[in-house]
Amino acid sequence: MQDSKKGWSGRFTEPVSDLVKRYTASVDFDKRMAEVDIQGSLAHATMLQRAGVLTADDLRAIQSGMADILDEIRHGTFEWSLDLEDVHMNIERRLTEKIGDAGKRLHTGRSRNDQVATDIRLYLRGAIDMLIGLVHDLQLSLLDLAEKHAATVMPGFTHLQVAQPVTFGHHMLAYVEMLGRDAERFADTRRRVNRLPLGAAALAGTTFPVDRQYTAELLNFEAVCENSLDAVSDRDFAIEFSAAASLTMTHLSRLSEELILWMSPRFGFIDIADRFCTGSSIMPQKKNPDVPELVRGKTGRVNGNLVSLLTLMKGQPLAYNKDNQEDKEPLFDTVDTLSDTLRIYADMMRGITVRPDCMAAAVKQGYATATDLADYLVKKGLPFRDAHEAVALAVRYAEEKRKDLSELQLVELQSFSSLIEADIAEVLTADGSIAARDHIGGTAPNQVRLQIGKWRQRLGV
Ligand code: ARG
Repeated sequence: MQDSKKGWSGRFTEPVSDLVKRYTASVDFDKRMAEVDIQGSLAHATMLQRAGVLTADDLRAIQSGMADILDEIRHGTFEWSLDLEDVHMNIERRLTEKIGDAGKRLHTGRSRNDQVATDIRLYLRGAIDMLIGLVHDLQLSLLDLAEKHAATVMPGFTHLQVAQPVTFGHHMLAYVEMLGRDAERFADTRRRVNRLPLGAAALAGTTFPVDRQYTAELLNFEAVCENSLDAVSDRDFAIEFSAAASLTMTHLSRLSEELILWMSPRFGFIDIADRFCTGSSIMPQKKNPDVPELVRGKTGRVNGNLVSLLTLMKGQPLAYNKDNQEDKEPLFDTVDTLSDTLRIYADMMRGITVRPDCMAAAVKQGYATATDLADYLVKKGLPFRDAHEAVALAVRYAEEKRKDLSELQLVELQSFSSLIEADIAEVLTADGSIAARDHIGGTAPNQVRLQIGKWRQRLGV
């Protein structure tokens, strides 16, 4: 006999096997949406009552039953049943146990298809708001670090070869910019998440006089989804969110790669606080940058979740298909991974030790001010290509002497161009080099401090 507890058991002559039950159920993971499911149900019931479909008594019973259920869920006493498949039927069944027929009327003019689409959107909206807050926290942590090191010189790299001096503060601000765009992307995605599917019912709409605009208002949705087939079936908003999350992780993965390099004794630029590192079971001297390495690794799984969702969607005919049940685990995993990563990162960046002496020494090893010498010659009238050639010869000479350009005598420098005069000394120092790049977006400490001020204002601190 078919399990009479199911919400759809009437037409079936044999029960599903335990394996199929486990295979098709989603309650183990979708119970995470319990609170938003109840929120959606209460709004739906309120709308149905106003439309005259439910009585005031029904609505009151539903409201009080749901309040009890919410309590049970929050206290961990709610009994989740695999037989009831998913979060929606678990909650509806419990409501009916508590309040009888009014509970059975709740599903009027609704389907699990528009219900689940609504739940995911409500859940994701909350997750986005939380993530934007966490991105801002990390930005603030980077701003503090940037401020401390607005004038700390380090080599800037291209091709991982020393290129030109930059300040460590400027380097940190590059990530503040990336994270700023990440937060913008989340906020932009939120607009498309924040639309109401309820009222679409299974796929075609409902025969009941639903007031979707009113339900949307009750749930703080900005608009309603305007095509019922689309409303229940598309998960593009979840894909878009995942893409934004992947980009955020990608930015943090790049920063991780840098922290790992910088912490290697070959660089020695920074140290990461012990609480973010672990040792080796065999090599007693080791202190490994595990957290950044894991961030780099977990970026792979978040990118994988994006590909999962894209692949999940690509073969689905309209409208709802059960395939869509598979949207939740990748989505939840992305939210969890990204939120943990952002939290840890904000704390970790506050605790890094910067080694300005090692950074300064590295600047000297790479002829980082060669461009400054070329620019100097150009300002004295030499065409840039000729200046480039003269400096290349000077670098080759300095390399043979194992000296930095700033360590060459004036007469040695003058052998490469008679335009070089005593005022070259300041130009060839790292401090002179950074101070000279004094325009919006440049690395001059002055500009770095201006940018920090702008960001603090933008973030409201
Ligand atoms: N658990 C399902 C999901 O996550 C809910 C919707 C089920 N709808 C259905 N017609 N079987 O998508």
